Amino acid sequence: MESVNQAGFWQQRYEQDSIGWDMGEVSPPLKAYIDQLPETAKGQAILVPGGGNAYEVGYLYEQGFTNVTLVDFAPAPIEAFARRYPDFPTEHLICADFFGLSPEQHQFDWVLEQTFFCAINPARRDEYVEQMAALLKPKGQLVGLLFDKDFGRNEPPFGGTKAEYQQRFETRFNIEIMESSYNSHAARQGNEMFVTMQVKA
Ligand SMILES: C[S@@+](CC[C@H](N)C(=O)[O-])C[C@H]1O[C@@H](n2cnc3c(N)ncnc32)[C@H](O)[C@@H]1O
Repeated sequence: MESVNQAGFWQQRYEQDSIGWDMGEVSPPLKAYIDQLPETAKGQAILVPGGGNAYEVGYLYEQGFTNVTLVDFAPAPIEAFARRYPDFPTEHLICADFFGLSPEQHQFDWVLEQTFFCAINPARRDEYVEQMAALLKPKGQLVGLLFDKDFGRNEPPFGGTKAEYQQRFETRFNIEIMESSYNSHAARQGNEMFVTMQVKA
């Protein structure tokens, strides 16, 4: 369990191509969310933490979003992303531990969550909530997908329930949407919730 806190655990998974979570494409509910955003959103500061191969970052970039930051502590997916998008600003590719990001240095309008929360040790979930709230600007939003399923295993993905998420996130966020996702990737149909929540003042 402790090993999921280490970059080496994930780096090895990428090196061995043992990346069953990787859908190879932008997540359909997140694509739909991005597609309905107004033009004015394109300059907003967006964070994709634990982004892995980061199809969402690629999609945002292709759509003209100019201030998207990918964070992952495993170097392999960051390097792969940089090869796929050689013009993507390298200062927005951060190979670092999400929990170590300095809120004094990094502030975002919104964060896109996609199989990152389920990858961290469940004992760190409150820490995740606190760090996420600290990295968001006032009125900033956390948007994304959370598993709506308890996988009952001692390894990632670590699932959860709506009741647990509400209890944890309501300490720092006003939950706007937390409902079963109707347009999930076929492999995740019925197993995930789409969420949007705004950091409390
Ligand atoms: C299950 S994968 C999901 C990757 C990507 N979001 C996707 O959906 O394909 C989890 C990712 O989170 C990264 N990760 C886990 N803990 C992290 C941490 N504390 N800081 C930064 N990245 C982390 C891993 O390296 C891995 O790339």
